[in-house]
Amino acid sequence: VIDIRKLYANTGRFTFDPGFTSTAACESKITYIDGDVGTLLYRGYAIDELAEKSNFLEVAHLLLNGNLPTASEYQAFSNNITRHTMIHEQLAQFYRGFRRDAHPMAIMCGIVGAMAAFYHDSTDIHDPHQRMVASHRLIAKMPTLAAMAYKYSIGQPFVYPDNSLSFAGNFLNMTFSVPAEKYIIDPVVEDAMEKLLILQADHEQNASTSTVRLAGSSGANPFACISAGIACLWGPAHGGANEAALDMLREIGRPERIPEYIARAKNKDDPFRLMGFGHRVYKNYDPRAKVMAKVAKNILDKLNIDDPIFDVARELERIALSDPYFIDKKLYPNVDFYSGVVMSAIGFPTSMFTVLFAISRTVGWIAQWTEMMEDPEQKIGRPRQLYTGPTERDYVPLAARG
Ligand code: ACO
Repeated sequence: VIDIRKLYANTGRFTFDPGFTSTAACESKITYIDGDVGTLLYRGYAIDELAEKSNFLEVAHLLLNGNLPTASEYQAFSNNITRHTMIHEQLAQFYRGFRRDAHPMAIMCGIVGAMAAFYHDSTDIHDPHQRMVASHRLIAKMPTLAAMAYKYSIGQPFVYPDNSLSFAGNFLNMTFSVPAEKYIIDPVVEDAMEKLLILQADHEQNASTSTVRLAGSSGANPFACISAGIACLWGPAHGGANEAALDMLREIGRPERIPEYIARAKNKDDPFRLMGFGHRVYKNYDPRAKVMAKVAKNILDKLNIDDPIFDVARELERIALSDPYFIDKKLYPNVDFYSGVVMSAIGFPTSMFTVLFAISRTVGWIAQWTEMMEDPEQKIGRPRQLYTGPTERDYVPLAARG
């Protein structure tokens, strides 16, 4: 008979940390979070300053390479991205294998993984140059693949990339333009899109990024790793929360109904949670949510959209933040609380919300994957477990089991 306590005693140091609440799995120079204060830095730069002054491609360069680009570095990086915005024409055929009503995240998991079947050179993970090319391919092609998933779902023809546009502008054009009409990109919408992409680009070792690192630690190719990250992001406790948060706000519908939902969130016997509230690391206001609330107000004002959902969100936040339950548990709005309001104002259906998150987070995922691959000490990730099953038993033949 195995004495489990003795077994673990013999393995040396052994920590039991379900949910990894206090275990660091890697060293990283990319993103810093101080959850008690509510600070988020990309390579040392504050997220609110980047959202205000920078653009997504500049931030992508920063996350991947460690520095804000000089003018010539920016031009070279931008050229490297735009030259990869097209996808292999045969990859476009894959969409027809999906039902039109498939969730676009289901399509993204499949299509991004399938890229490994097209870009064989990029699967040479031991060549730094090929790793860089794979990063550029993924960052550049994600908007194209995502816009195609959307177009497929509504039965419209695919729109090809236009490299004369900004990163955000090109994505908006591929998503919303139709061949028969000229689509004019509203600068307010383009700016909101850029900010949305910047705010969600990286967030250190969250569930999807850890998934990418774990998948990559076995030597899997980058497309397979990012596809694994997309699958993890889809969950409602992670990237799927933006979709769930907007659904919840729409369900609440008007400020008078808020107390009913607050009461449900506080009730231990009700599995309901306020979506877009709470965070594993932030025990203070999520700095991304602060910026997102401003972006939401700006886009609604400038586009003259009278969406009662924004009022519901603000009132819900006000009531929750003065309620002892939320105060004691340090539950504040997270990035997903207001991002749904912004995406909805831009014109995206809720099913596309997590897809937009994936476009943005691809930069963080691939930056983290690259950092891991550059580490000469890198090992395969292999968590241990605390076994609680039966001790050794004798096999009983089927006929004798009663
Ligand atoms: N509404 C009501 N109560 C909540 C909420 C919420 N949104 N979030 C946490 N709590 C409560 C829990 O019931 C728990 O109470 P207890 O101590 O009495 O058991 C306590 O606060 C701590 O919650 P945990 O689930 O243990 O915290 P954890 O760090 O594991 O979870 C998470 C964090 C998953 C984000 C959680 O707050 C949640 O489910 N929020 C809603 C979903 C969401 O918005 N996700 C987006 C996260 S951000 C992102 O992925 C981009």
